[in-house]
Amino acid sequence: MKVLLAGATGAIGLPLLSALEAAGHQVTAIIRDPAKGRLVADRGAIAVVADVMDRDGLLRAVDGRAVDVVMHQATALRGARRTLRPDDPTLALRGRGTAHLLEAARVTGARRFVTQSLITGYGYRDHGSRVLTEDDVFGLRVGNVGDLVTDASVATEQQVFAADGIEGIALRYGMFYGRNAFSDMFADLMRRRAPVLPRGRTATTSFIHVEDAAAAAVAAMERGRDGQAYNIVDDHPASWRDFITAVARAHGTPRPLALPRWMMRLAVPYLGHLMIDTSMRVSHARATRELGWTPTYPDLRAGLGLAPSS
Ligand SMILES: NC(=O)c1ccc[n+]([C@@H]2O[C@H](COP(=O)([O-])OP(=O)(O)OC[C@H]3O[C@@H](n4cnc5c(N)ncnc54)[C@H](OP(=O)(O)O)[C@@H]3O)[C@@H](O)[C@H]2O)c1
Repeated sequence: MKVLLAGATGAIGLPLLSALEAAGHQVTAIIRDPAKGRLVADRGAIAVVADVMDRDGLLRAVDGRAVDVVMHQATALRGARRTLRPDDPTLALRGRGTAHLLEAARVTGARRFVTQSLITGYGYRDHGSRVLTEDDVFGLRVGNVGDLVTDASVATEQQVFAADGIEGIALRYGMFYGRNAFSDMFADLMRRRAPVLPRGRTATTSFIHVEDAAAAAVAAMERGRDGQAYNIVDDHPASWRDFITAVARAHGTPRPLALPRWMMRLAVPYLGHLMIDTSMRVSHARATRELGWTPTYPDLRAGLGLAPSS
């Protein structure tokens, strides 16, 4: 298939480019910085330079190209502020950015659209021991700062599901780890001896290795059902404490330092809600059943190259 990919130079984008090339797809990668052209060319893709938030520039850049599928994997999380605000650029990418990419899909004749969504769209609260599936309410607002992310996840999903003449598919990813993802980010912080955890009990959530996330995106693009969302998570949810302890061990960093919970909530309110309040166990059964996808790394230890726990 001919694929137009936004977010190609990111933590998920780079392994995704490799996975698309390996599966025989032809990729046109939207990049903002021409200097990153080499990164995508090395993975078999052609680059077009455009900013997804610049509608007219994007449409000019893709004009005249024929595309089968558009994939939206763009975020601006790397430079995120400590406090999440309504004008956050990643929220805009999921809202207006999706609208612009849907226009790009129309201009290029694409009939399918795969978008990045998040399991936290099930709501930033403690979901207890219940295992969440795609049949659970998505977009649950709970009255904390996480609602902004929930709303943005719903915004991207609803747009692609409602797009006339375009088959829309959403990938509800768990927490990314692997090269350039959360694990590398926390390893860097621990090397600098920065506190990375709230004290006491931390929330449990579902993670996914970026290579498995990329493989799922290819499977969804090829076999996903129109109007369907798929949870893309590994087999064994883990607490943030277990995650960060495993990252420290795998990367050989100093032990993680913890912040008092009140301070964490005050200093980084969004991360505080995520790591203290947002417990969720999520099932990938539908992705396995319909896409034939299972994670290569069933849990964090496998994905981080650690020996299985006995
Ligand atoms: N489920 C999760 O846990 C989850 C989900 C998303 C992200 N994250 C975390 O967030 C961090 C970043 O991961 P990521 O892969 O999402 O982000 P990333 O590595 O920063 O990549 C974002 C991609 O989107 C592109 N992009 C951003 N704004 C754009 C715009 N306006 N127009 C066109 N392209 C644009 C970037 O291009 P440039 O190269 O030009 O910047 C890059 O290719 C990681 O630590 C990851 O673990 C976690």
